[in-house]
Amino acid sequence: MRRSEKNTASYSPLNAKQKRDLHKRLLAFYDDKKRDLPWRRTSDPYRIWLSEVMLQQTRVETVIPYYERFLEAFPTVHRLADAPLDSVLSQWSGLGYYRRARMLHAAAGEISLEPTFPKDRDALLKVKGIGPYTAGAVASIAFGEQVPLVDGNVARVFARLFAIREDIKASSTLKVLWQIAGELVPSARAGDWNQALMELGATVCVPREPRCGECPVAKQCEARISGRERTLPVVGKKAAPKAQERTALFSSKGARVLMLRRVPNGLFGGMWELPTVEGPEAEQLLCRLVNGNLSSYSPVGEFTHVLSHRRLRVTVVHATIRGAKAWEPLGDYDASDWLRIDECETRGISRLTRKALDLLRTKGLLR
Ligand code: ADE
Repeated sequence: MRRSEKNTASYSPLNAKQKRDLHKRLLAFYDDKKRDLPWRRTSDPYRIWLSEVMLQQTRVETVIPYYERFLEAFPTVHRLADAPLDSVLSQWSGLGYYRRARMLHAAAGEISLEPTFPKDRDALLKVKGIGPYTAGAVASIAFGEQVPLVDGNVARVFARLFAIREDIKASSTLKVLWQIAGELVPSARAGDWNQALMELGATVCVPREPRCGECPVAKQCEARISGRERTLPVVGKKAAPKAQERTALFSSKGARVLMLRRVPNGLFGGMWELPTVEGPEAEQLLCRLVNGNLSSYSPVGEFTHVLSHRRLRVTVVHATIRGAKAWEPLGDYDASDWLRIDECETRGISRLTRKALDLLRTKGLLR
């Protein structure tokens, strides 16, 4: 047997009766126990799309207020497409994964050029930035199309139901999980079915301590039957976040603070922040970044900010800029402005920048 074959997940497909039973139980669970969430009260594909983008890697409770504010600001895909990126990032500010907001905005631009919203999964997949998960979610939930989806919750549910022992993050296992999802999605109520799977994963079939006593399909669960509900799924270890040091410059002029905007791509792309360079010994680099000399350069404090792949240790320094010429875009930045603090809030700022501003407040340097 070749290695690739040995490592490929296998499962026993359900027969027609088992499938019917699974559908009946899981849909009844969904009807009875589903949470009342704002995106479940609409069939507007734009609203459902937005919810699915926000929900990727962010918890439901965190998403709700963002979702509601975002839709107040941009109630239609056309309004989103016409909005400047700064105001979109400002609404997204604090949710993290800003690349998603930039992609959403770009995709809205593409969609708004068409006469109608993409009307099925294939059309959704043609939009840049919309992948199989999002296309499956929008097509099934908004249009009732019989198409599957797999996210982290669904992967865990299937790994237990079918006692899959391979790493659910491995691409060969994911392929099998998508195959299972495709075999199981029913022709009627496809959107409810997909949401029922996600709901079960989010509320009952949870990672560490699954609540099998509350599970409507525990009797059919191979992991449960064989006593492996706590050891499955197998999830490959994530690499530890890489440590990185950064220095951020606080410089004020009256009530205004010098802020720079990052170029659109890369980490924190499009967000406004204090001028920041990599490394702890940063005075010269910062001087170059702001085209001037720094006087009374002194450290204010430090904090740590953890992202999915990085652990950033940020030192904030306070200095006055002397002899700054008209500012020219440099390095990772494409715009600069002296902003009042309330103005910072109307541009996109990240949670990291918020922490830096909070630190400055606690040191009495900002109000
Ligand atoms: N996670 C992402 N989308 C979801 C949905 N529509 N229902 C439940 N959990 C989800």
